[in-house]
Amino acid sequence: MSSPTSTVTVDNKSVELPVKEGTIGPSVIDISKLYGQTGMFTYDPGFTSTAATESKITYIDGDAGILLYRGYPIDQLAEHGDFLETCYLLLYGELPTAAQKADFDYRVTRHTMVHDQMHRFFTGFRRDAHPMAIMVACVGALSAFYHDSTDISDPHQRMIASMRMIAKMPTLAAMAYKYSIGQPFVYPQNDLDYTSNFLRMCFAVPAEEYKVNPVLSRALDRIFILHADHEQNASTSTVRLAGSSGANPFACIAAGIACLWGPAHGGANEAALKMLEEIGTPDRIPEYIAKAKDKNDPFRLMGFGHRVYKNYDPRARIMQKTTHEVLNELGIKDDPLLDVAIELEQIALKDDYFVEKKLYPNIDFYSGITLKAMGFPTSMFTVLFALARTVGWIAQWSEMIEDPSQRIGRPRQLYTGETERDYVTVAQRG
Ligand code: CMC
Repeated sequence: MSSPTSTVTVDNKSVELPVKEGTIGPSVIDISKLYGQTGMFTYDPGFTSTAATESKITYIDGDAGILLYRGYPIDQLAEHGDFLETCYLLLYGELPTAAQKADFDYRVTRHTMVHDQMHRFFTGFRRDAHPMAIMVACVGALSAFYHDSTDISDPHQRMIASMRMIAKMPTLAAMAYKYSIGQPFVYPQNDLDYTSNFLRMCFAVPAEEYKVNPVLSRALDRIFILHADHEQNASTSTVRLAGSSGANPFACIAAGIACLWGPAHGGANEAALKMLEEIGTPDRIPEYIAKAKDKNDPFRLMGFGHRVYKNYDPRARIMQKTTHEVLNELGIKDDPLLDVAIELEQIALKDDYFVEKKLYPNIDFYSGITLKAMGFPTSMFTVLFALARTVGWIAQWSEMIEDPSQRIGRPRQLYTGETERDYVTVAQRG
């Protein structure tokens, strides 16, 4: 059977292009030879119709609201798995056996401490610095502290760098938080699991015993699973593009963190909570719905809409359940923000504007309420997203580095500026 092709006609010249098929999801037209054959580029701002890479890691069906990590549905992983097991799955492609899991947990745990000089690095920041600014800087700076794992041509160094980032991200995130509130850093305690250790580093103080609440730890672990990967989103594509030049992995992940910070991406959880606080009471919801629909008003309902999901974000469903679990555990019977969120969701889901544009709540809609109830300030929300997404970035970066066909990412453009013209001296300019 011959391989499928697609014919494109440009200036009366027909060009046959190969069509590649995935295991599931849309096929792609391979246009890599199009320029050579026609002298034309394709044009797709925002990559709405462009597959930038081939990948075996994560699959999303945005119309059906399906998210799979290595083939496993997100709800099954969130219900039955734990975050480190999910990390193993994303990195290596299979769920670990008991022995592999124990070994992986051990390897990650042995890397939780950061170089002691990093402490001094932190004190260079203002106390009111945004923790995402600190994370961009500190993760980038890891390449200055761990030179022995920056050679990307060495698989062992790549593995060590990956372990270091997964292990040290909670330590750095907790340090950023502690620094902002003027409390001493709390060192990792390696007999605790990954997420309990993180909670302790954030909320323990040296003067008192700290007992990790297992319900909260499990809930946060689940939140980490939900955020662990999401195929070729903006920050992941940033990591891949940075990595395609051969940059070291710490620098690439720092680039991903910088991209994640934006309110259209990971910064939406912070923005969504601020929006709910601003709305304040359910009676003000219609005013905000009207603002969101007004073409002349830049306001958008934060935590609503998604480039890929044109259905309920499957992560948002699990997130909503987790929110209720956390509030119950903490004995928060009436949370005014939750009341506003539930009512806002109901109204928006019935509104023609949101129905027609297929705008549904995304993961960020409920995550802020949950994280706030756990005690995290809004400025930390995107940091927690970055912590969890680190493994996805690393898995995608590793897949790219190990792909023999990988080349530097170098998009082209449609130039609409001035054509060639001669230089004019200052005296001659009118
Ligand atoms: N509120 C009001 N209108 C919206 C919203 C919203 N939240 N999102 C999209 N629209 C409208 C938009 O105005 C546009 O209308 P029109 O076609 O009339 O011009 C239409 O829906 C399509 O929007 P778009 O901006 O072309 O869609 P996109 O795929 O480029 O953007 C998005 C996706 C997530 C950036 C956008 O929906 C948005 O800004 N949402 C709010 C921010 C948010 O919650 N982001 C988190 C995304 S999930 C987590 C993550 O990726 O990090």
